[in-house]
Amino acid sequence: MISVNFENLKIVYLSDMEQNFVAKNAHPIKDNFITRWQAPSNIALIKYWGKTTPQLPKNASLSFTLTHAVTQTQVEFKPLENPTEKVTFSIIFEGEEKSSFRPKLEDFFANILPYQPFLAHYKLTITSQNTFPHSSGIASSASSMSALAACLVDLESQLSSLSEEEKINKISFLARLGSGSACRSTQGPMMAWGTHDSLSNSTDLFAVTAANIHPVFTDFCDAILLIDKGQKQVSSTLGHKLMHQHPYAEQRFAQANDHLAELLPILQQGDLDAFISIVEKEALHLHAMMMTSDPYFILMQPNTLSVINKIWTFRKETGIPVCFTLDAGANVHVLYPNNVAEAVNQFIEAELLQFCQNRQCVHDKVGTGIKKY
Ligand code: PMV
Repeated sequence: MISVNFENLKIVYLSDMEQNFVAKNAHPIKDNFITRWQAPSNIALIKYWGKTTPQLPKNASLSFTLTHAVTQTQVEFKPLENPTEKVTFSIIFEGEEKSSFRPKLEDFFANILPYQPFLAHYKLTITSQNTFPHSSGIASSASSMSALAACLVDLESQLSSLSEEEKINKISFLARLGSGSACRSTQGPMMAWGTHDSLSNSTDLFAVTAANIHPVFTDFCDAILLIDKGQKQVSSTLGHKLMHQHPYAEQRFAQANDHLAELLPILQQGDLDAFISIVEKEALHLHAMMMTSDPYFILMQPNTLSVINKIWTFRKETGIPVCFTLDAGANVHVLYPNNVAEAVNQFIEAELLQFCQNRQCVHDKVGTGIKKY
């Protein structure tokens, strides 16, 4: 999508592929419509860091879809007497009207209006809550944008006929326009986003499920250690922007694509040692990009490093295949197969919780994606 402003007029050009996502014959209805969807967060194993407009990734990425860290969103669509040029909405988050969420949502609706022009005929009342602790440092943009996109596509499917495949791809497509990584929260157990030679159906426009995953990965556990629950020092929007002039950007994008090519057969074979090596490298390379951007920043805290060292020692001493990954923050995601959960949970309790704020940890596992609730 390219948009040009011409004498107060916004002209939008869509590629042929993007044209496929414009709602067809979707005439607004006169009745109220209410729908509720929940969507999980996801944790990237191959990281997305760097993009072009509109939310197109500079490299392919791949993530585990989670189960318990979810956003639940209800949208009530009330037909308007006089449709407007943009989407009219109110947002209530965890019982409170949230004006601070408006700018991000206004951008999101402006981005998706060319694909769902019927939205301008409704007033949307969005009511949303997260199941994970408030201000925990767990990114909620992925779960919240995919839950909202699911509600929007549910309305569209009332107005025009969409196949199941069209619905799920459109939810991912719209969620992407709100927050890139959100497009990977729609299905499980793993989703890949971004055009990649090793994934025949991959595209930059929406995420697809990664096929033929070995059973060891389909019930993998993710214990999210809440190291620092404070406000993020650097937004992911700024982080992505800093990749534009980054001295190592091109190498990083090539490396992420190489890592994905290496990881796909490993996921099919269930090779845990090879999995651990790529996943930990990806986490550290993501943070290396942040440390070497201009301005530079460090999102890891001393306790992040203490946890990483403890995990390495434990793995060496016991041979148990536990590893870590990191998001754009200080929290540590401890990843391990379900069949070693008892031993790893004891280790977390005895050795890692001391490094968490108020000993807090969210025990999550690989899941299946969005659903109605
Ligand atoms: O979706 P965004 O724009 O918040 O970016 C997310 C980036 C990472 O979480 C750091 C990596 C990823 O692929 O999810």
